[in-house]
Amino acid sequence: MITKLSPIDTAKFVAAKQATSYVQSGMKVGLGTGSTAAWLVQCLGEMVRDQGLRIKGVPTSNRTAELARDAGIEIISLDEAKWLDLTIDGTDEYDSNLSLIKGGGGAHLREKIVATASDKMIVIADASKQVATLGAFPLPVEVLGFGMQTTQNLIAEMLISADVLGHEITQRMQGEAPYVSDEGNFILDLHLKRIGNPRQLSLDLNQIPGVVENGLFIDVCDIVITGHGNGRVELRDIINDTHDTVQFDVQDDGNLFADMAE
Ligand code: A5P
Repeated sequence: MITKLSPIDTAKFVAAKQATSYVQSGMKVGLGTGSTAAWLVQCLGEMVRDQGLRIKGVPTSNRTAELARDAGIEIISLDEAKWLDLTIDGTDEYDSNLSLIKGGGGAHLREKIVATASDKMIVIADASKQVATLGAFPLPVEVLGFGMQTTQNLIAEMLISADVLGHEITQRMQGEAPYVSDEGNFILDLHLKRIGNPRQLSLDLNQIPGVVENGLFIDVCDIVITGHGNGRVELRDIINDTHDTVQFDVQDDGNLFADMAE
């Protein structure tokens, strides 16, 4: 039976599928977190099972580790890998400089460590993630539990003179309880609306004691692969300054869709 994907899932799937063309046997690959990265893990798992692809994956979250194991991908720790050929991950926003806001799934700390330890970072996204200016998506900041209110006050004070439009800060919740990251920390979401100078803001945030890591990724991403609901994929490579387009035949790919959507 052929299962038809929604336009948004088609967009995420084709972006993830296109990203697998960068993965070769023998590579150590950082595996991102989120719904788009979950498609990638499924695609790679299928290549491991059906095409004999041999890779070692370094997951960026406990959730992704579980998905990857279920998909049959060999998992190793970042310290075992030491350095990665490639990391492929989703994003919450990206701009024309391929600067990112990540951490909507609460995993940006491990994601940034893994992506930074990679020769190349590829972001996979649906078209809704592209923005002219970062900041509509709340910026996640992972903070230590110790002195968290003091840390929040210091962030609020810093924001007064920062090039941002909004200043509201909320603590990430999971139901009634505070959200706890895989590293046992909390997350503050900064509702900034518009970030005029992401590089400076990232530096300023990470200078505050108690801040573990913020969700701005500056000069980390090399390629963004953007999927659309009609199967079109755009590839923007900032290192080689190229912009290409690929068209997936979503109808002809029905069997693959059916396998992965069930
Ligand atoms: C996880 O912490 C985030 O950085 C994700 O990469 C981001 O939220 C993208 O998730 P989706 O692919 O589900 O939109």
